[in-house]
Amino acid sequence: MRLVLAALVVLVMGAAIAGAGMGEAPAEREAAPTQAAVQAAKQRIAAGGAVMARGRQLFADEGCDRCHAIAAVGAGGRLGPRLDRLDDDAEDIAESIADPRDDTVDGYPEKLMPTDYGRRMDDEEIQALAAFVAAVSGGEASDDRRGRGRGRGHGRGGGD
Ligand code: HEC
Repeated sequence: MRLVLAALVVLVMGAAIAGAGMGEAPAEREAAPTQAAVQAAKQRIAAGGAVMARGRQLFADEGCDRCHAIAAVGAGGRLGPRLDRLDDDAEDIAESIADPRDDTVDGYPEKLMPTDYGRRMDDEEIQALAAFVAAVSGGEASDDRRGRGRGRGHGRGGGD
């Protein structure tokens, strides 16, 4: 009987330890873009003119890089999803910035992204930032992203 108990304790502890391992940042499991994709993103940023430059600046100034990775500009934040492999358009991205709780990405902390960007930035700034993020991903998003399990019902119906 003792032995059975001891075995049980070992089992339960083992499970607890394995469970603790799952606490790794989900972004660690996201594949970085390929070198070619990073090069292409750099070119799009360079070719993007003033709006793109503004978006890139805001990405750093607003501290997005603390939580988000964009390889093409050397941003390595890991608390939130990578932003250089998105398959969202600029409009969706602008929404994610202005209203982060409207539609959260599965597997990431739901209440982490600050909600005050919509107040701190004006429309033009949010558009520039969203254009930058969209351009970085540039439709490069590969099919394997589909398996990421984003729980986005995409409530597009009331898209305003
Ligand atoms: C304190 C950490 C933090 C900061 C700072 C932050 N975010 Fe986020 N962001 C997150 C997390 C966590 C998520 C995923 C959960 C969610 O959707 O809210 C997220 C989600 C997003 C998404 C949706 C991504 C997808 O896969 O659809 C976008 C776009 C985004 N952030 C852009 C930004 C931009 C741009 C900034 C700067 C203005 C910013 N974030 C600042 C933590 C952060």
